[in-house]
Amino acid sequence: MREVMAANREPDTEAMPPAEGEAAVGRAAAGLRPTAARPQQAGNELFDEIEGGRGAVRHQLDEEVALQLRDVSVYYGEFQALDGITFDIPKRRVTALIGPSGCGKSTLLRCFNRMNDLIPDARMVGEITFAGRNLLDPSIDSVDVRRRIGMVFQKPNPFPKSIFANVAFGPRINGFRGDLEALVEESLRRAALWGEVKDDLNKSALALSGGQQQRLCIARAIAVQPEIILMDEPASALDPVATLKIEDLMRELAAEYTILVVTHNMQQAARVSSYTAFLLAGEERTGRLVEFGPTQGIFTNPEDRRTEDYITGRYG
Ligand SMILES: Nc1ncnc2c1ncn2[C@@H]1O[C@H](COP(=O)(O)OP(=O)(O)OP(=O)(O)O)[C@@H](O)[C@H]1O
Ligand SMILES: [Mg+2]
Repeated sequence: MREVMAANREPDTEAMPPAEGEAAVGRAAAGLRPTAARPQQAGNELFDEIEGGRGAVRHQLDEEVALQLRDVSVYYGEFQALDGITFDIPKRRVTALIGPSGCGKSTLLRCFNRMNDLIPDARMVGEITFAGRNLLDPSIDSVDVRRRIGMVFQKPNPFPKSIFANVAFGPRINGFRGDLEALVEESLRRAALWGEVKDDLNKSALALSGGQQQRLCIARAIAVQPEIILMDEPASALDPVATLKIEDLMRELAAEYTILVVTHNMQQAARVSSYTAFLLAGEERTGRLVEFGPTQGIFTNPEDRRTEDYITGRYG
């Protein structure tokens, strides 16, 4: 059990600020056209507007829903980190969560697999419906949730064990009785790592490069056959080549899995995701959903001026 927790523990990492001009580069790379400039609004009005948007479902999906969020709020003790998050996350698509540092992206991601349970004083209210049940209901078995909803962190965190043992770990503790070698191979293939490691399965996972370690962590997440994969800035510690591999992988995996990815990289959000949710915190630091919809629309013609401001790098 302790090792399960270790697998799910987020490493201590500094948040990476978005790079200067990244939005424009992102749009160009993604072949998206820029939007017309909108008038700036100053001061607190920025955040008063968000209050008004609380509770309503943003963008009615016309496809299958994997996770339905209704008025989700998260508190750390007295502090409210998220307020009234309401939207539907589509099945077998990549959905990007974007927003400035501290707006609550990781907090929201941690709601989906009950990782906030591990934080003393964290309290979640509202409803996240997954497979007909409210994930926030305290009676839900968090171990079962974490098998069905896996997580990949910013810093690759393989166990100090062999490559094989890393991938086999989850199935083993879940009592998998089938062909473990075949499952490990299949998981490594799906994570686009098999070709690079097939002759080294007994070597230490720690000897792999950062990009390989991250694909190993994705293979480890896939091996327990989850339905949803959560990724918190999965490529931000990697070089550009390794990053593109992870992005290709995300797009491929979306054929079978629902993927939620937090990213500070606008270029990446535009390249990999079908839908984007933009969160923003006000002066009191409580994060709210400003806009959710198809990525193409969010990047080329956002409904909210604050989305435009963020994408074009006006605040980060
Ligand atoms: N364990 C915790 N205890 C108390 N406050 C927390 C805790 N974790 C996060 N917070 C606070 O909740 C808010 C949201 O934090 P969170 O880490 O979710 O933001 P984020 O959008 O992921 O930021 P970043 O882009 O920097 O990773 C911040 O104000 C943060 O200080
Ligand atoms: Mg974060």
